[in-house]
This record gives sequence, C-alpha cells and structure tokens, in this order.
Amino acid sequence: MTKEADDLRKELVGKRKILDVGCGIGTFEQRLPELNIIGVDTDEEMIKAARARTTNTYCLADAKQLPFLNASFDALFFVTCLEFLEDYKAAIDEAVRVLEPEGKLVVMALNPESEYFKIHYSKEGSYFRRMKHKNLGEMVDYIEPRFNLQTHYFLGVDGEKIFDTEDKEYASLFIIKGIKK
Ligand SMILES: C[S@@+](CC[C@H](N)C(=O)[O-])C[C@H]1O[C@@H](n2cnc3c(N)ncnc32)[C@H](O)[C@@H]1O
Repeated sequence: MTKEADDLRKELVGKRKILDVGCGIGTFEQRLPELNIIGVDTDEEMIKAARARTTNTYCLADAKQLPFLNASFDALFFVTCLEFLEDYKAAIDEAVRVLEPEGKLVVMALNPESEYFKIHYSKEGSYFRRMKHKNLGEMVDYIEPRFNLQTHYFLGVDGEKIFDTEDKEYASLFIIKGIKK
C-alpha cells in the first residue's frame, strides 16, 4: 500500500482535482492527504467507512455513470477496480468524459500472470476470483485511442518479501498511465 501510494503521489502531484473511482474505504485519500481527491464507490458501506476515515468528499456512484460534469477533473485513477467491473469499457468512456483534455489517467490493475495473483486466486473464496477481465492487453487496446499511454509492471511480491521489479512473473500490478488526447 505504501509503495502504491508513493507511486500514485508521483503521478498525481500538482493536479488540482482528482477522482478516485472505486475508492473503497478511502485508503489512498488517507495516505495522500496533500492531494485534492474525491472518491466514488457503489458500496454504501465502503463510502461510510471512507467518510469516517478522512474529510475528503465521497460519493455513492457508479463508475459507468459519474455524477460530474464533462472535463471537471485533471486526473482520475482506478486502483484494483477496473479489472473487476462487468463493463470496464463504459467506465473508461466515463473517465474520458470527466477528464479535461491532457488530463491524466492512472490504472493500477492486478497482474493475473504473477505468482502472487495465482497463489491468492487458488484459495477458495478469494476476492481475486471476482476479477472479470484478465486480458489486460485488451484493456490497453480499448484505452489507447483516447490517451497517450505508457504501461509497466510494478511491485514484486514473493511471500512476505516486497521488492521493485518489472518482471511480470513477480510484479503484482500492471500499471496503465495515460494523458488524454
Ligand atoms: C478491490 S476494491 C479497491 C478499493 C480501493 N481502490 C483500494 O485499492 O483500496 C474495488 C472497489 O471498487 C468498488 N466498485 C465495484 N464496482 C464499482 C462500480 N461499478 N463503480 C464504482 N465502484 C465500484 C467496490 O465497491 C470496491 O470498493
């Protein structure tokens, strides 16, 4: 979490208004208090927990129908959210709509090719089994026409050990970063 938050901070520093789609309990709002982040989530319990945690604004809303005007954010991120959505394409369309031209998109998705993912996936009842889209290449293809993109693997996990790596066998996350065209 600390490494993910540090990476997000690097990407989002200097942005005026940031949207966190699928904010959960507000982990990143808590870890990045210097950033102006609004969180949205469809789960009322998550929103309640997030509001108890920080004073950021949180909205109960769906990624595919965001209650914001066109071009109202200069950055937007999804952390372990997009790959779990039934209709990730609608969520990307909404991200495009609410981002300003040259707004920044950051997607941190679980890397299904990693050992870390495979170990967790194999456990009965694992949350990872709810992942709807394991073909992250397809996701990149959908995002690419609307953004200037960069992708990389991130955050090695091997048992208890956390380390820097871009080796997709060990990297727990796949990062998609884009600037809206
Ligand atoms: C794995 S959690 C990640 C939470 C947070 N981003 C983090 O990394 O701590 C995925 C979150 O996405 C939310 N979610 C699921 N479907 C959603 C949707 N259609 N629109 C917005 N949020 C959604 C879930 O309620 C959950 O809080």
